[in-house]
Amino acid sequence: MEIDEEKALAARAAANRVRAGQRVALGTGSTTSFAIRALAERFPGGDNLSIVASSAATERLATSLGLPVRALEANDHFDVMVDGADEVAPTLSLTKGGGAALFREKFLARLTSEVVIAVDHTKLVPRLGTRAPIPIEIVPFARIRLIHQLSDRALSPRLRADPTTGAPVLTDNGNELLDLFPERGVEDPARLEHELRALPGVIETGLFVGLARRIYVGLPDGTVQEILHPGVTSS
Ligand code: A5P
Repeated sequence: MEIDEEKALAARAAANRVRAGQRVALGTGSTTSFAIRALAERFPGGDNLSIVASSAATERLATSLGLPVRALEANDHFDVMVDGADEVAPTLSLTKGGGAALFREKFLARLTSEVVIAVDHTKLVPRLGTRAPIPIEIVPFARIRLIHQLSDRALSPRLRADPTTGAPVLTDNGNELLDLFPERGVEDPARLEHELRALPGVIETGLFVGLARRIYVGLPDGTVQEILHPGVTSS
C-alpha cells in the first residue's frame, strides 16, 4: 500500500469523527487535505458545519469543495479538530509544522475538545525529533541571536528556505521557521517546549504535548489503527 493511501484511510477515519452541525477546526498538510475531501463528500455544502482553517491553503481547498470556512471569533471553541502530524510519540505528543502552519494549528488545537490526528504508519516514532526536525516559528529580527542560542544548546537550528529561490519560507503570519535537529531526539518534549518558548523571538514550537486525543494510523495492510489518549473512550 502506498503512503498516500495510508494517509487517505487514516484521514477518512478522522473525518468520520465530525458530526453535522459541529464547530470544526481544520489543520494543514497533505493528510488533512484527504480529510477535507472526505468531509466535503460527507457534508455536501457544509451541512451546518462551522469551520475555521489553520492556513490559507486549507481555507482555499475547503471552500473550493463547498465547505463553509469562517474567521475566528472572540469566544470560539471547537468540538473537533482534524489534522495531521510529522511524528507521533507513544505518549501521543506530536511534532507538527512540516507545512509551516504550526502556530495556527496549535492555537486552534488549544480551543478544541477533541483533537483528532491522522497519520501514515511511518509517523509513529519512539521519540520525537528522530524522524523529522522540530520546527519553531520565530520573529525574523531575532533570527541571528536565536540561531546562536539554539546552536549552543546542541539543537542544530536550520533556517527553513525555499529549495528553488533560497529565500526564507514565511508562515501565514509573516514569520520565519527554524528547524531543530536534536542529535538523539527529544527526551522530554514538555521541558524542551518550555525552554524554547522562554527564548525571546520564539513565537511557537511544533511540539504538541497533551493536545491530541485520538490518533488514526493508516497501516500497510490497508487497516486503520486507533490510538486513544488515556481516559478517552473508543466510541
Ligand atoms: C502543517 O504545518 C503540519 O503540522 C502538518 O500537519 C504536518 O506537517 C503533516 O503533514 P502531512 O500530512 O503533509 O504529512
